[in-house]
Amino acid sequence: MSSETTSASDGFTKGSNTYDEAVRHNIAGSDRLIMSLPAGRYPTVLDVGCGTGWTSAAMVRRFGVETLVGVDASEGMLEKFAAKLGEEFPDVTVELRHEDVMEMTVPDGSFDAVICAMALHWFPDKTAAIARMGRALRPGGVMGILTAGRGGEDAWRELLARVDAPSAWTDWFAQNQRDVHEIEADLRVAGLEPVDVWMERRRRHTDPDAFMARTRSVAAHLLGNPPGGFSELDRRIERALHDASGPDGFVYDYCKLYAVARRPAA
Ligand SMILES: C[S@@+](CC[C@H](N)C(=O)[O-])C[C@H]1O[C@@H](n2cnc3c(N)ncnc32)[C@H](O)[C@@H]1O
Repeated sequence: MSSETTSASDGFTKGSNTYDEAVRHNIAGSDRLIMSLPAGRYPTVLDVGCGTGWTSAAMVRRFGVETLVGVDASEGMLEKFAAKLGEEFPDVTVELRHEDVMEMTVPDGSFDAVICAMALHWFPDKTAAIARMGRALRPGGVMGILTAGRGGEDAWRELLARVDAPSAWTDWFAQNQRDVHEIEADLRVAGLEPVDVWMERRRRHTDPDAFMARTRSVAAHLLGNPPGGFSELDRRIERALHDASGPDGFVYDYCKLYAVARRPAA
C-alpha cells in the first residue's frame, strides 16, 4: 500500500472505536444512497472502503444480499465491520479483505453491485479507483457512490487557515471533493453509464466538541496525535472551534455527492 493510503487508513484504525458515534449523522447518507439504487436482485455485493459497515447493512436490509465482500485498508474498521454484520445478519456470507482499492484481488465481472460510501475522497487516484471498482461489476451490474461534494466547508476551511494547518489539510478540499460533472466523466472513463447523479448541501449546527470528535475519527492522520494524547495542532483546532462557535454551536455547510451508474449489459 502507498504511504499516503497507509497513513489515512492508520488514522481510521485509530478512530475506529469512536467512528460510529462521531459520524452518526452520515448513516442517513448511506441509507439514501442504497434507497436510490434501481430495484432489482443484488445477491453478490462488493463494498469498497466498507468501514464499520453502515452501507453494507443498508444494502442487506433493502435487497437481501447473499454474499458481501468488504474491502478496506484499515484493519480496525474491518474488525468493527465483521462484528456488526456478523451479529445483525448471520445468514449473509461475509468476506473481508484488508486491501487498498487499487490492489483489490476481487475478480473482474463478478459483482451484481459495487458500493462505495464516504471513501472515494480518501482514495489518491479517484478516476483509476472508479475504473477498478467498475471492472468488478458484471455486465448490467450497478454502482453506487457517495463522496465529498465540491463546495461548502467555507467555515471549516477558514478555521484551518487561521490555525495554520499544514497544506496537506488546506489543499485537501480542492484535491478530493468532486462535482457532478467530474464524477460523471470518471464513470464514463470506467465504461459505466450514469443513471442518477446529484449533490446535496447541508448546514449543520453542531457542538464544537462533537465536531472535534468527528474530526479525530475521520482525519486522525491529519491531526498527527501521538498515542493517547493530542498534538499541538489538535489543541489549536479545538480552541479555534470554541472561539468560532456561537449560541448555535459551530455552523458549517458541506456537500455530499451521490452517483448511481450501471455497467452496460453485454
Ligand atoms: C469515512 S470511512 C467510510 C466507511 C463506510 N463506507 C461508511 O460509509 O461509513 C472511509 C473508509 O475508507 C477506507 N479507506 C481509505 N483509503 C482507502 C484505500 N485507499 N483503499 C481502501 N480503503 C480505504 C478507510 O480505512 C475507511 O474505513
